[in-house]
Amino acid sequence: MSEKVKITLNGKEIDVPRDATIREAAKSQGIEIPTFCFDDRLKAYTSCFLCVVEVEGEEHDTRLQYGCESGHGNQD
Ligand code: FES
Repeated sequence: MSEKVKITLNGKEIDVPRDATIREAAKSQGIEIPTFCFDDRLKAYTSCFLCVVEVEGEEHDTRLQYGCESGHGNQD
């Protein structure tokens, strides 16, 4: 079982598995992020940009990130 991390999604703190994608975290809260190139059976291809969401970092820097790719524990 994956370690849980706390994230804030639309102003609400939630616990999600570290390896969950933003799409999966949103879906757990009943929020559907639209996708086009994503397929559960494949590694994220990230080519259509349809799932892009705004992510606020620790120092309030804001960036855009694919909702269909990468876990929250990934730091870049
Ligand atoms: S669904 Fe295409 S980049 Fe995420």
